[in-house]
Amino acid sequence: MTEAYPITDHTYDCIVVGAGGAGLRATFGMTKAGLKTACITKVFPTRSHTVAAQGGIGAALGNVGEDNWKWHMYDTVKGSDWLGDQDAIEYMCKNAVPAVYELEHFGVPFSRNAEGKIYQRPFGGHMRNFGEAPVPRACAAADRTGHAILHTLYQQSLRHDAEFFVEFIAIDLIMDDEGVCRGVVAWNLEDGTIHRFRAQTTVLASGGYGRTYFSCTSAHTCTGDGHGMVARAGLALQDMEFVQFHPTGVYGAGVLITEGARGEGGYLTNSNGERFMERYAPNAKDLASRDVVSRAMTVEILEGRGVGEKADHIHLHLEHLGADILAERLPGISESAKVFAGVDVTRDPIPVIPTAHYNMGGIPTNIHGEVLRPTPDDPEAVCPGLMAIGEAACVSVHGANRLGTNSLLDIVVFGRAAALRARDTLKPEAEQKPLPLGSADKALERLDRLRHAAGSQSTAAIRDAMQQTMQRNVAVFRDEKILTDGRNNIDDIKASVADIRLGDRSMIWNSDLVEALELENLLVCAQATVHGALNRTESRGAHARDDYPNRNDDEWMKHTVTWLKDDNSVKIDYRPVHTWTLTDEIEYIVPKARVY
Ligand code: FUM
Repeated sequence: MTEAYPITDHTYDCIVVGAGGAGLRATFGMTKAGLKTACITKVFPTRSHTVAAQGGIGAALGNVGEDNWKWHMYDTVKGSDWLGDQDAIEYMCKNAVPAVYELEHFGVPFSRNAEGKIYQRPFGGHMRNFGEAPVPRACAAADRTGHAILHTLYQQSLRHDAEFFVEFIAIDLIMDDEGVCRGVVAWNLEDGTIHRFRAQTTVLASGGYGRTYFSCTSAHTCTGDGHGMVARAGLALQDMEFVQFHPTGVYGAGVLITEGARGEGGYLTNSNGERFMERYAPNAKDLASRDVVSRAMTVEILEGRGVGEKADHIHLHLEHLGADILAERLPGISESAKVFAGVDVTRDPIPVIPTAHYNMGGIPTNIHGEVLRPTPDDPEAVCPGLMAIGEAACVSVHGANRLGTNSLLDIVVFGRAAALRARDTLKPEAEQKPLPLGSADKALERLDRLRHAAGSQSTAAIRDAMQQTMQRNVAVFRDEKILTDGRNNIDDIKASVADIRLGDRSMIWNSDLVEALELENLLVCAQATVHGALNRTESRGAHARDDYPNRNDDEWMKHTVTWLKDDNSVKIDYRPVHTWTLTDEIEYIVPKARVY
């Protein structure tokens, strides 16, 4: 029986859940279009995880060398190992150049080249002339590009008088009997009050689920909250088996060392002092795409050529770049190396290891941010009233592997696209039907169940079991045995939430209850990830199977679609890679072997 919580009701045209780059870009775009919009966020906006993005945002400006958005598109399709939807990739890469100039005009303090233009550096997998040689395409604000963009977008949101509900955690979507999303129920962490937000459109911009892993570059807030809400509403997740490992997380700490460090000329060595990437990617070398570099590092370690006492990591050298370049272009990671590895980068290499970094999969959407609810008859059908953008979404522009710099691009291009769609389809302050009776009940039952949970296992113990399993069983290399064990473990761990213990403590520390809510969301993501990975019997992008080492386009050039059931079972289906709305400016990029 649900407690009789007093509920505060709000009505908006648009509700945005999450205040990272995607959420903020959508929030002020919608506000600017005259739509009454509120952004609800569990952390203060400028603490959102976008702040941690370092090396740059990809756009073919051609400021430091000739470039072309079609080359950018080619690299993104190739980087995605042909799982990305080419029409969505066309939309993103074509819009990249105006998107970056728009950011510049909003006030992003980009670094400058000698001519005063936006500074650009090379990044993994970004090449000139359809794969010839690395091209400087990452538009950078030193190595704090995400920080610069996030703060600017927040300032723009304030400028447009966007409304914020800060330190509110969304619990669940409000869905009506016709399957329309009517809003969201949220909990105010400051005073414990419950809020019901009714809206014409709810936008999930809630980020990724990096914290399913023990070692990741993601903030503690990256807990797949949007994914959890979508799954509990009976909607699908897509391509969750594709988890990116960034080659250069600080060994032992997981903190990101930007790929821009290699873009500036940094390189990796093994215990023989060998620049081993020359063997794995003779053309792009250390600037091959991330999945390629992470696999190469893992092979070096597994074959006994790792560095350190346990021969279990790799060295990243920057010392040859010189103190001036390091101070000007890589000040943030110079500090991170000092703080987290005790290394002075002007003298010594940084100990690094592939670290969980990004989720290519997520909530399936079209290029307008509308959430897909594919049916056998209509794979393009959408869920009315619901959008998803940013890392929470799977448009899919990253396919099986994302190129560095394309995440900052994704958030601004699709945050804007969602705002444009709302502008074109909604009427400001249009009358909304009353919410169905008991519309908050499911969310409140969830809150109650956890708040009073009197089992025997702590949230932290269950979370640790999940993170250890994901780290061990769903990592850079996978095979049937390891994934089967992983799936069995994760299914059991997910079921063990029934035995969670919060009890009286949650009345004192509301962070306990937050962590339990987040854990349920993480487990949704972990389960979809491991089931999708076990089912996909091929290697593609970040999904590398020892037992199926090749890409298999005949059988597997398709997106995984996953539904999680109340009985802890998982339903999996597939939908075709989307290409049919390519414009006549570009031709379909035919799949071929992916070499760098
Ligand atoms: O390496 C980096 O700076 C990360 C960028 C990204 O993930 O796009």
